[in-house]
Amino acid sequence: MTRTTLEWQAADSAHFLHPFTDFQSLARKGARIITRADNIYLWDSDGHKLLDAMSGLWCVNVGYGQQALVDAAAAQMKELPFYNAFFQTATQPAIALAEKLAEVTPPQFRHVFFSGSGSEGNDTVVRMVRRYWDVLGEPQKQVNISRHNAYHGSTMAGASLGGMAGMHAQGGLPIPGITHIDQPYWVEHGRPGESRDAFGLRAASWLEDRILAMGADKVAAFIGEPIQGAGGVIIPPASYWPEIQRICDKHGILLVSDEVICGFGRTGRWFGCETFGFKPDLMTFAKGVTSGYIPLGGVMVGARVARVLIEQGGEFEHGYTYSGHPVSCAVALANIQIIQDQHLVAHVHDDVGPYLAQCFALLAEHPLVGAAETCGLMGALLLVKDKAKLTPFDAAAGIGMVCRGHCFANGLIMRAVGSRMIIAPPLVITRGQIDEMVALIRRCLDLTLADARRHGWL
Ligand SMILES: Cc1ncc(COP(=O)(O)O)c(C=O)c1O
Repeated sequence: MTRTTLEWQAADSAHFLHPFTDFQSLARKGARIITRADNIYLWDSDGHKLLDAMSGLWCVNVGYGQQALVDAAAAQMKELPFYNAFFQTATQPAIALAEKLAEVTPPQFRHVFFSGSGSEGNDTVVRMVRRYWDVLGEPQKQVNISRHNAYHGSTMAGASLGGMAGMHAQGGLPIPGITHIDQPYWVEHGRPGESRDAFGLRAASWLEDRILAMGADKVAAFIGEPIQGAGGVIIPPASYWPEIQRICDKHGILLVSDEVICGFGRTGRWFGCETFGFKPDLMTFAKGVTSGYIPLGGVMVGARVARVLIEQGGEFEHGYTYSGHPVSCAVALANIQIIQDQHLVAHVHDDVGPYLAQCFALLAEHPLVGAAETCGLMGALLLVKDKAKLTPFDAAAGIGMVCRGHCFANGLIMRAVGSRMIIAPPLVITRGQIDEMVALIRRCLDLTLADARRHGWL
C-alpha cells in the first residue's frame, strides 16, 4: 500500500490501541512506523536507518533477514498450516521441537508444555505448580513468591507474578496467592561498604524470611528472571542465585526460572540459570526460541515435576489452541539450528560478550554514567547527577527519556527504564557493529549531558 507516513499515522491513531501506550499522547505524536529490517538494522517509513540495540523486544537473537526461518515457515504452512495437540494428536514439528529442547536445555529437562507466549507460559507455571502440590496431597501449597520490579508478562497471572507497581495499580492485581520480595538491586538496597556478594546473600535471605512468614507449608514456588530485563537489566551478584537455590531446596519449594529474555544464548550460555549456577524445576521460555519471527512460548518441566504429573496427575486440564503450533515449531527448529550452526552461544560467551563488557567499562568514565554493567549481550548504564555519590536525577527531569529521544534521533534503539539505559542487541552482532553502537551511545550521552547542563539539572 502506498501511503505517506502521515497517512499511516492517522490510520494508526484512528484504530490501533498499542500495548503499554498512552493512547492520547501517541495519537498526538504519531507512531514511528517500522517497515523493514536486515541483520541488526531497521528502517522506518521515512527511510531512516536504526541500529536495533534491543533485538526488537529482546527477541531477535539470530538477527533479521534469516532466509532459513522464512523457508521453514513457508514449507510448513504449505504442508500443514495448523493442527492442535489436544486429545491424543500431535504434529511432527512439535514433536521434533520438544526433542530438540530436551537436547539444548539443562539435563533435568526432558519435557515441555507449549504456549503461544511468555505470559501464557507463566500462567502455565502457576497452574502447574499448584497442580503438582495438589497431586502430592498438599493443596494448601498455593503461594508463589516473586520479586518487586520483576516482569513476567501481561496476563492476569503474568502481571501478578510480575512486580510492576504501575501494572498492579490497574485491574486489582496481584491475584490472590502471589507475594513479592525486594529485588537484588545493589543501587537501591546495598549498604555502604557492603561487598556485592554479601549483598547477594542478604538479598536472597529475604526469600527465606518470606517463606517463614507465610509458612513453608503454604509456599508452592519461587519465580525469578536470572537477570531482570524489563526492570532495567538488574544483574544480581554471583552469590544470589546459588543461595536462592539452597533456600528453595531447604524448604522443599519449587524453583522457577523465567528465561523468556535470558534463554537461547543471551547471557553467554544457552540459559541464564547456567550462567548463574542454579538448577530450576521449571523454566519459562518464549522470544528467542523463534527469534521473534513467529509467536511461541512454553515451559520446560523438570524431572521432579514431570514425574508426579505423568505418573500420578491424570488429565492436566490446561492448554491453548496454539500449544505446539506446527508453523511456530518449524520456525523454532530452524532458529535453534542457526544458533547451533553459527555457534552463537560461544560467540556471545567468548567474543562479543567480553568485548561489550570492555566497551561499557570505558563508557563508565562518562560524566553522566554512575555504573555500567553487562552480562553476555545485556547491558545497562545508570545515569546519575553525581558519579561519586550516585545521586539520582530528579524524576521530573526524565533523564532516561531525554537520552532515549537522542538515541532515536541518532539512529539507535536503546530503551530507558527510569534512569537506566539498557541494551540487548541481536546475538549475531560483530565487534565492528559493537563499536558503531557504542559510538552512537557515547554521542547520545554527550547530547543528554548538554541538555542536563542547559536545564540546570546537574
Ligand atoms: C522475563 C519475561 N517473562 C515473560 C514475558 C512475557 O512474554 P510475552 O510478552 O511473550 O507474553 C516477558 C516479556 O517481555 C519477559 O521479559
